[in-house]
Amino acid sequence: MSSIKVLDKEFEPYISEEAIQNKISELAQQLNQEYAGKRPIFLSILNGSFLFTADLFRQITIEAEVCFIKLASYKGTTSSGNVITAIGLDANVSGRDIIIVEDIIDTGKTLHHFLPQLESSQPKSIKIAVLLNKKEALAYPVKIDYACFDIPNKFVVGYGLDYDGLGRNTRAIYQLK
Ligand code: XMP
Ligand code: MG
Repeated sequence: MSSIKVLDKEFEPYISEEAIQNKISELAQQLNQEYAGKRPIFLSILNGSFLFTADLFRQITIEAEVCFIKLASYKGTTSSGNVITAIGLDANVSGRDIIIVEDIIDTGKTLHHFLPQLESSQPKSIKIAVLLNKKEALAYPVKIDYACFDIPNKFVVGYGLDYDGLGRNTRAIYQLK
């Protein structure tokens, strides 16, 4: 694999397509066992998670639903100063088992602010599945239940992840040189 250029920056190969797909298969198998008979809702956070969600969901063999949402943050009047709105959350999550599907967790800020809102709709359970977990960057108390890869605090692109909107359309993941 060779390096790629996205806008002004060079990125080098970091996680191969094969490694990504192997981890996703493992995760799918685990979820197929743990959620059999529960009809979970996979709640995918756009835009970055669209490829991960597609590859994961096509290996889910139990009854399951999928819902794509976009999280938009704006300055609110809460103590934290952050309000996150979920756009497109049309599924009725009350009493349901929810699996949040995220491409990458960095500080955890986005999910930390979104989770109370989701909890207010009283789902039966919420678990978080991420492709990439920047463990050292975590600054908010968010519990990650399933992580395909723990990665260092370095910027990555590819496989849905972008640099300024570009670089999402690769099968592998690249890291900043
Ligand atoms: P927080 O800090 O809320 O951030 O956990 C999560 C969001 O930040 C973006 N992010 C990245 N996007 N390469 C990217 O393309 C990265 O290395 C990276 N680190 C964080 C991403 O949108 C994620 O949902
Ligand atoms: Mg994202």
